[in-house]
Amino acid sequence: MQAQSYAPTAVALHWLLVLLVLTLYGLGWYMVGIPKGTPPVAYFYNLHKSIGIVAALPIVLLIWWRVTHTPPPLPGSLPAWQARAAHINHLLFYICLVVLVVSGFVESNFTRFGIRFFGYPLPIVGWEDKTVYRIFNRIHVYTSYVFAALMAIHIAAALKHLLVNRDGVFQRMWPWRSHARTLSETEA
Ligand code: HEM
Repeated sequence: MQAQSYAPTAVALHWLLVLLVLTLYGLGWYMVGIPKGTPPVAYFYNLHKSIGIVAALPIVLLIWWRVTHTPPPLPGSLPAWQARAAHINHLLFYICLVVLVVSGFVESNFTRFGIRFFGYPLPIVGWEDKTVYRIFNRIHVYTSYVFAALMAIHIAAALKHLLVNRDGVFQRMWPWRSHARTLSETEA
């Protein structure tokens, strides 16, 4: 039997976030390696900050979707511990995403540089404070490591469903599925 799929709203938000998060990792890891005080630093940092702020919207929408909808059930053949692990992994995903956006925003507001949102300077809501900056910077960086590890587990599990279990769980979140049954947008 074909597994029930996620609603198109959830699928669209999921893949939009994949795109934004991969871009943020690419920029994040690239920009911290640029020599400080050179012109590209400000450009790439502000691009990262701007895209990070944009990502807040799909993050909030996806969390809202998840809170107001029940995801399609996992196949009964799946061991209970794996269903539980998936649930915990997804919960940690949401927590990490919120922590990443909030900590990035806070750390940026406790330096004199602030945020130029795609070129427009945003009002700085903090003040220059190295200690506050450092605390939120560490939170941001370590959460990015935890989130990367969670993503690796998530991708490995998804590929196991696709290649080993072949139970349709992978296709539930795949945008180009053909005849999968879709959970109604209004079904809660
Ligand atoms: C889902 C959202 C986000 C992700 C996945 C993300 C990811 C990352 C990563 C991977 C790094 C490099 C960490 C390292 O290895 O040193 C980084 C650094 C940074 N991010 Fe983000 N970020 C996000 C949102 C934001 C937001 C919203 C802001 C600010 C508005 C921001 C500001 C910064 C800053 C200032 C740094 C530089 C830290 C340093 O210089 O050590 N980030 N981010």
